[in-house]
Amino acid sequence: MNILHIDSSPRRESHSRQLSAAIVEKLLEVAPGASITRRDLGAEPLPQTEALYAAALASPATLAAPPMGSLDLSEELIREVEAADVIVIGTPMHNLTIPSVLKAWIDQILRVGRTMKSTPAGKVGILRDRPVFIGVASGGFFTGERANQPDFLTPYLSLALSSIGLRTQQFLPLQGTAFLDRSQGPLARDKVLAALDLSAAEHFREFHDRPAVLSSTGRRIAMSPRSGKRHPEHYEGAHKLLTLASQPSGPRRTIE
Ligand SMILES: Cc1cc2nc3c(=O)[nH]c(=O)nc-3n(C[C@H](O)[C@H](O)[C@H](O)COP(=O)(O)O)c2cc1C
Repeated sequence: MNILHIDSSPRRESHSRQLSAAIVEKLLEVAPGASITRRDLGAEPLPQTEALYAAALASPATLAAPPMGSLDLSEELIREVEAADVIVIGTPMHNLTIPSVLKAWIDQILRVGRTMKSTPAGKVGILRDRPVFIGVASGGFFTGERANQPDFLTPYLSLALSSIGLRTQQFLPLQGTAFLDRSQGPLARDKVLAALDLSAAEHFREFHDRPAVLSSTGRRIAMSPRSGKRHPEHYEGAHKLLTLASQPSGPRRTIE
């Protein structure tokens, strides 16, 4: 399993960073041999959209013959997404939505003709679906009984990801960080993590604690615990669920 781990807080000791790191830890419990690709947008922000890139995206004609080098960064970032089996994003809420560094990443990976198609019915994603876990930290409350501000983060990020095909999403909001002192952070984080649903990544499970099943040549064969079948090579997108931030522990929804 390859995990793409993205952070977007400018703060080192940030709640969303600690939350995303804890989600990665949980995934490593499922698949201890997983590799991790790191994209720390908070520590190393991407450039804002540059003139050549904007020129390339201006029309179908310019996209068909883009200025030389204009799509290089976009291509690099899209390949990181394509190489990932699971994506983990840590994001703060900044002025009711995602921080600009995460928006800069979205601006590079949503590209017509590469990660999505433009159709009369709207944008259709091209990328293979894979689970995306999003740890959100907010100083105040945007969902639940104490909500006192609108939420433009969850619907926007959810739509942006699903527009390129990443429809299996779970949002995990850690709210009210402004009212937490240092000692309360871990408990608040654990409460959020209790809602983490790893079933979409379950087929990557590695069973190091079980006796290995050996082939006649003595090679270890990874078997799925439930079905006894071999692990599927790729996530097939059979289990599509979206946990709405407005219903953190409520019903899950299948989105097509
Ligand atoms: C520029 C900026 C804007 C913010 N806007 C909001 C906001 O609209 N709503 C909110 O609840 N918290 C807001 N906050 C507070 C952060 O969401 C909160 O500090 C959160 O813990 C940041 O995530 P981090 O700990 O991962 O850095 C804002 C913080 C900053 C720096």
